Amino acid sequence: MTTELNTQWWRDAVIYQIYPRSFADADGDGLGDLPGITARLDHLVELGVDAVWLSPFYPSPQADAGYDVSDYRDVDPLFGRLADFDALVARAHELGLRVIVDLVPNHTSDEHPWFRAALAAGPGSPERERYVFRDEPNDWPSIFGGSAWTRVDDGQWYLHLFDVKQPDLNWDNPAVRAEIADVLRFWLDRGVDGFRVDVAHGLVKTWEPPSDTVDAPPPAVPNGPEPMWDQDGVHEIYRSWRKILDEYPGERILVAEAWVDPVERMARYVRPDEMHQAFNFAYLLAPWRADPVREVINSSIAACRSVGAPTTWVLSNHDVVRHASRFGYAETNNERVGIGVDDPQPDEALGLRRARAATTLMLALPGVAYLYQGEELGLPEHTTLPDEVRQDPTWVRSGHTVRGRDGCRVPIPWTPGGPSYGFGPGEASWLPQPESWDRYALQKQQGVDGSTYELYRQALRLRREYRLGAGTVEWQPDAGTDVVSLRNGSVLVLANLGTEPVALPAGARVLLASGELDADGRVPADTAVWLL
Ligand code: NOJ
Repeated sequence: MTTELNTQWWRDAVIYQIYPRSFADADGDGLGDLPGITARLDHLVELGVDAVWLSPFYPSPQADAGYDVSDYRDVDPLFGRLADFDALVARAHELGLRVIVDLVPNHTSDEHPWFRAALAAGPGSPERERYVFRDEPNDWPSIFGGSAWTRVDDGQWYLHLFDVKQPDLNWDNPAVRAEIADVLRFWLDRGVDGFRVDVAHGLVKTWEPPSDTVDAPPPAVPNGPEPMWDQDGVHEIYRSWRKILDEYPGERILVAEAWVDPVERMARYVRPDEMHQAFNFAYLLAPWRADPVREVINSSIAACRSVGAPTTWVLSNHDVVRHASRFGYAETNNERVGIGVDDPQPDEALGLRRARAATTLMLALPGVAYLYQGEELGLPEHTTLPDEVRQDPTWVRSGHTVRGRDGCRVPIPWTPGGPSYGFGPGEASWLPQPESWDRYALQKQQGVDGSTYELYRQALRLRREYRLGAGTVEWQPDAGTDVVSLRNGSVLVLANLGTEPVALPAGARVLLASGELDADGRVPADTAVWLL
């Protein structure tokens, strides 16, 4: 099926991230599932995306919402069965949607049979060699807070760059390499169109000897030059995976989740014989000001072009505060990828206005755009979740100082009212939804002029019609210092990131606008337009 679709689809695709726990609940247990997704795929066709990326649905104790895998070749009963996965892929392909799954190669669950065997077999055994065991820990911190090392009963320590229940695999061990290569084949054989590779910058570590500072604070975002991130040895692994993917018909892709900077380092993951795409987190993190936005667009395009890869653009995912809320802090300019316990509430109206403008700009850029479920509804972060319902291990491991990522993972609203706004027949029991989400429900926005949903839909339709994904950026220098203005083919894009309204060029026709123009037909602050 895949082979019938156009080739090199991944160079200008729009890819929609589904977080299975929170997309749609078919069986009414309060947690989303695969049949729920299959039943709602029509929504994504209506919206106009090309592919979906599914966050993990594999068997897992769910210590990190499924990023702690205990069996790489099955579906957790929470989400359904393998047959449900096959049905999902079949339906998606029937609808012309590609399916990308998450691959979590840096660590397993501590309940994976390999880790259990490693504990049972003891120091010096081949079973322990699949993980990173040491007699003494060093000072590496866990991303979720505290030390990255935990001691086992016989006195050895194991490395976990994330939660204590996520032991890191030892990628120097050929058995680990062989196993994950086989996992790739397992899902490729089932028809997946690609893999989003979790912690792609972390697999290979350069060991550092122990020191006295075991409790060093974790970095805000993991990026080099630390010895556990972005080591050159990772690239050989991706070259070997690329060969596997290339054995399969159609264009199957690898997408790197690699929090590295500068963007030139990111581009190394997408050299011609490695991955196809890497998430552009520099773009996600850029402040809402014209200079840095122009700069990150330029540097990303240049870095990716230097290796012949498409640039990607992303504003939200399941690990960061939703952009409709990040942009709701006027004074801090998009700095809050996490919200601390002492932070004030974001301004919802300002955040939404800027988020709509930011998305309108993003969808005009050439390359690949990633959307995170619910952003097409303008969903804000849930910032008032009661502490007792929080699930993210960050909350506990940070000593209750970082709230964690639950606020962007709340089940999405489909219809107004009901126990879970149409997420399922019952309540969204795994994480409660805010009471104000009636107004964001899909059904309330469908066919409503000016709704965020219709803005996304129109943008995706026009993006396709004007072939913006395959276009180029030509800067328009005269637009003013606070305005990001570029031409992509016949479309002129103008995003006003300043405070004063901006006049349209004479004779311009508005194709798309993220908000209303003012009474004089000018583009107000925090608004973006596409013009002909
Ligand atoms: C990145 C994933 O996106 C995140 O959700 C997860 O906690 C870590 N990797 C560890 O797997």
